[in-house]
Amino acid sequence: MKYTYAASALKDTAADILITFTASIDKVTGKLLKDIDRAVDGGLAAMVASGEFTGQCGEIASLVAPKGFKSRRLLLVGLGDENDINAESFRKATGHVSRHAAVKNARGAAFHFGSFDVAAYFQATVEGYLLGSYQYLDYKTGDAAKEKSKLAAIKFVAGKSDDVSGLKTAITTGQAMAEGQLLCRALAHTPSRDLTPRVYAKKAQQLARKHGLKCQVLDEKAIEREKMGAFLSVAQGSVEPPRFIILHHNGGRAGQKPVVLVGKGITFDSGGISLKPALNMHEMKQDMAGSAAVLAIMITAARLRLPLNVVALIPTCENMPSGNATRPGDVVTSRKGLTIEVINTDAEGRLILADALDYANKFKPQAVIDMATLTGATLYILGHAGAPILGNNEALLARLDEAAWETGERVWELPIWDDHRAQMKSGIADLVNSGGRPAGTIAAAAFLENFIGDWPWAHIDIASVDLEAKGTAYTPSGATGFGVRLVVEMLAGWKKL
Ligand code: BES
Ligand code: MN
Ligand code: ZN
Repeated sequence: MKYTYAASALKDTAADILITFTASIDKVTGKLLKDIDRAVDGGLAAMVASGEFTGQCGEIASLVAPKGFKSRRLLLVGLGDENDINAESFRKATGHVSRHAAVKNARGAAFHFGSFDVAAYFQATVEGYLLGSYQYLDYKTGDAAKEKSKLAAIKFVAGKSDDVSGLKTAITTGQAMAEGQLLCRALAHTPSRDLTPRVYAKKAQQLARKHGLKCQVLDEKAIEREKMGAFLSVAQGSVEPPRFIILHHNGGRAGQKPVVLVGKGITFDSGGISLKPALNMHEMKQDMAGSAAVLAIMITAARLRLPLNVVALIPTCENMPSGNATRPGDVVTSRKGLTIEVINTDAEGRLILADALDYANKFKPQAVIDMATLTGATLYILGHAGAPILGNNEALLARLDEAAWETGERVWELPIWDDHRAQMKSGIADLVNSGGRPAGTIAAAAFLENFIGDWPWAHIDIASVDLEAKGTAYTPSGATGFGVRLVVEMLAGWKKL
């Protein structure tokens, strides 16, 4: 896709397809809409009168051959009630636009922002376009690719002001954010046989090289030397050996304490000996979505040259049943030395995260954020509408909350109470890995808390937001890439806690 930037009046903007925005309307008012209506001989007023177009978010009025315009086709796109318009309105509206037939069949499009001259709206527009038009076609043969959009160039046109360089900065940021999210989606979509821990580590190394990140990979021997007994107890059931991926973005001054990100990288979760039911087990190829988000965040941080140091830790392995798999009732020793009674081998994510969180101490982090498809119970808390967050530091959680409203990737805080901590104590070892059904999401975090050092920590459980079933405005069905824009947004404004 080729992007260009300009400042011109709507009617003087030349493109195969010209796109501009309006708030909800019940009649044609204001100069912009009146000008458009006149150019199509009252066609817009007729559409409004008939209720065909009311400017609700994502509604599109397709107008042909407006007189006196340099473009043959004009799409007027609704943003919803004018008092509720924010960046998310633009993301959603543009997501719909990205799949409009006239847009997919055009070579070049222009987005004209008119009076909506706000950097966050520019950024959201390119995000909505890239996220909404995404298709995962790697395994399709034949004609599937024919349905792909032919759009090859987008012109972004500043409205009121002629701040073309501000426009360009906002678009470049949005492009990096969205492309990071798309990388996360592609990784999560990849079938487990083609994204084994070893392949995943190679891929991380290649991406790191391309984007100037430092990357180190620990193999099974090195993981043993680190005494990551909890991580290894999950990996041991598979013929595929585990890997531990470490990435560095050194955007801050040397010696500045890093923010550490930890991502759950289970490339397939069968449940192990505590085998999952067959229904929906195929979705467990996505049990590495937390780590894919972390990897994509690192690459986006590098692209945006964020001025801080960030370290990513990704424990990756398969959770498989076999003659060599961990048995329910086994006790394993974590890197930290705490012993864990494995009640349920399907509670494997917390085991691999425990050792990775403990490893984070090496970096004397200023904060640690982990992301994981950790508990199915999230579905009963926020559904697919947002991700629960938990942790030990209100200021850090508040920053995530703030970034959530900016990015539309919503989060909501849950508590960890002593009752939940008690749930994770074992009769024969220090901890159990499963405390039963009550408060599953909180109990998992209460387990992780035992491995947290003396640093602010936030845990994002993305188990019910990493996969979209039906498709929404800018999230086609499939892997969502949730959490990439959320955390990049937070890191972009990072200050010492
Ligand atoms: N990867 C799953 C969680 C999950 C479930 C993610 C459904 C997405 C959709 C995790 O490893 C798991 O199996 N968790 C168990 C824990 C339980 C055994 C304590 C769960 O949530 O049922
Ligand atoms: Mn599991
Ligand atoms: Zn899992």
